[in-house]
Amino acid sequence: MRAWINGQTLADASQPAIGVTDHGFTVGDGVFEAVKVVDNVPFALTRHLARLQTSASALGLPEVDLGEVRRGIEATMAGQDLPMGRIRITVTGGIAPLGSGRGDDPCTVAVVTAPAKPYPATTKLATFPYPRNERGVLAGVKTTSYAENVVALAHAAEVGATEALFVNTAGNLCEGTGSNIFYVVDGELRTPTLASGCLAGVTRALIIEWCDVREVDEPAGVLAEADEIFLASTIRDVQGVHQLDDRVLPAPGPVTAAAMATWATREAESPDP
Ligand SMILES: Cc1ncc(COP(=O)(O)O)c(C=O)c1O
Repeated sequence: MRAWINGQTLADASQPAIGVTDHGFTVGDGVFEAVKVVDNVPFALTRHLARLQTSASALGLPEVDLGEVRRGIEATMAGQDLPMGRIRITVTGGIAPLGSGRGDDPCTVAVVTAPAKPYPATTKLATFPYPRNERGVLAGVKTTSYAENVVALAHAAEVGATEALFVNTAGNLCEGTGSNIFYVVDGELRTPTLASGCLAGVTRALIIEWCDVREVDEPAGVLAEADEIFLASTIRDVQGVHQLDDRVLPAPGPVTAAAMATWATREAESPDP
């Protein structure tokens, strides 16, 4: 693992390097990205950096110097052999007073790069009993304020699942704690619209471009009729769901398997689609 913070490469990535009054640390005032590395090359980096900028803007943080972020990525990848890896980019409000108000210091920009492993082809998903607020100011923004996701994922782990499913305040399907959801009804591949409050996932966007998908908002109960369900996210790529709560499904089903195959082909064709 290698880390870079505000222009400096850290000799030891496990050593403390962020100020204790950093607004990202004290109140979760920050945004982040997770980028997959394939054969030592970041995948879909342009899209991830664009979303980082959008997230920062949604929080009212200053414009991110994306050239600087790219230099941080290069610095953390140097000297590592990464057949598969994960780049984590974090931008916070920087050193600030001990409250919700921001200080005048520059943002903290950090990059950490580490090896990663593929996800299992299928998994169990558990519905989280508390709603995702699709009307909140942070809906669909990739902020470091992810404690709600932490609690939801812990709930899923308690019932033997590896991902939690959020339903929004309207009772419609939304997303997972770190993934977007796709499902098949009557042979049609569907996913919630961005109005559901889900993150505009990079993986989701590519699947919509590469496969025949209908974006639609529907009550979560539609999953009782779904023949297949899959999750999509960076590094996870396309992952079949073999169980949702008490319901066992065939996985990966034919539509999921086709999406997996398309993903593998298209990912190999271009590192920055
Ligand atoms: C809440 C949430 N939804 C969806 C996703 C999937 O997004 P992406 O495909 O860009 O990784 C993520 C990524 O971690 C996420 O945190």
